[in-house]
Amino acid sequence: MTLHSSVLTLPSRRAHDRQRDVGVTSSRSLTLTKGRSWLHHLILRCAHVMDAERSHSLALQALGLGVASFLAPPLPPIHSRLRRTLFGKTLAHPIALAAGFDKDAVAYQPLHALGFSAIEVGSITPQPHAGNPRPRLWRVKDKAIINSYGLNNKGLTALKRAIAPFKHSHRLLGVSVASIKSTTDAILEDFSHTIDALQESTADYIALNLSCPNVSHGNVAILSPQFLQQLCRLKHHKHWTVPLLLKIPCALEDKTYTAITQLAIKNGFAGLIVGNTSPQHNHAHKGGLSGTPLGTAAEHALAVVHRARKNSKNFVLISSGGVMDGFAAYRRLHKGADMVQIYTAFIYDGLNTLPDFISAMNQACHKKTPSSLPKRTLIRNVA
Ligand SMILES: Cc1cc2nc3c(=O)[nH]c(=O)nc-3n(C[C@H](O)[C@H](O)[C@H](O)COP(=O)(O)O)c2cc1C
Repeated sequence: MTLHSSVLTLPSRRAHDRQRDVGVTSSRSLTLTKGRSWLHHLILRCAHVMDAERSHSLALQALGLGVASFLAPPLPPIHSRLRRTLFGKTLAHPIALAAGFDKDAVAYQPLHALGFSAIEVGSITPQPHAGNPRPRLWRVKDKAIINSYGLNNKGLTALKRAIAPFKHSHRLLGVSVASIKSTTDAILEDFSHTIDALQESTADYIALNLSCPNVSHGNVAILSPQFLQQLCRLKHHKHWTVPLLLKIPCALEDKTYTAITQLAIKNGFAGLIVGNTSPQHNHAHKGGLSGTPLGTAAEHALAVVHRARKNSKNFVLISSGGVMDGFAAYRRLHKGADMVQIYTAFIYDGLNTLPDFISAMNQACHKKTPSSLPKRTLIRNVA
């Protein structure tokens, strides 16, 4: 079965192989599948009692070594209503991995092979940056995370080298770009330099991270109309061809979302990613909160931005924040998202995440009203 041939499509040969794996009913393959599931469960439990940053870097290494292709449960067939075309590529479904998981693009190939339709690597800065002191990543209650990484990354040159081999006609690779500078000129110079350098790269789109809560930009309000106007002037001057998106936070005022959306459309930006982690929370740790608690604000922000884009249907809306299961993802689509990015759900549910998301979204495709969808029934308890 190929990507376009029927109502139910499979995303890749590897997924197809995994699919076949389950289709075989011999007791040997059933034992193997159960063994893998048990091993995956054990690894998740271990990962969740380790130091969070250490377990994240081990997970990236394991992905790089191909462990996921052995342990990952099969992806179910994907309903054709989930298919969409973005940035010139036809994707089997709209679920993507958000920025910050694979900052230096060391594992985007295995992540694509797991079935994610898009991976956003980065955020990167022009030069390597160590970020904030450790500890800077914590799991907190309600399936949430707080991080205060502060844009640690290996820099532009390393990233360009890492993404050079990317070549896939049904998967997207986005690059998230940020700055740690504290004056308007220096921030714009960073953006300009990095975006210039990525024009001849394999990136399908570039996202400007205007919403990292873990860096101070001095006196520059990076979402102020003044700064955004300067950014627009730079963009007009440059004539960049790789689609450029802006990543903005959850919980702005509605009128600010509307103003940013209109400005972005008028100035030829390709779309918005709404939103990012939030510094507003009552936890003892300082940093940006992600996961379940972001859901309501992110859904509201999406709805406002979708209203503001009116008939500009080519202006892409990517929803990010608190999408913890496939039903929630489907609701985001219904509220206007063209693609849905996840991060924290993947940390908590590991290799089960995508198969669970796809199953739930397949079910949702058969429902008439998204309001009748169950809430969070597929979350597995790993604690
Ligand atoms: C540990 C961690 C690191 C992150 N790093 C970045 C980053 O470098 N750039 C960025 O744009 N977003 C970053 N994010 C934000 C995510 O891309 C995403 O927008 C946010 O976590 C909300 O989605 P979620 O609730 O599904 O996790 C990071 C999030 C986490 C949890």
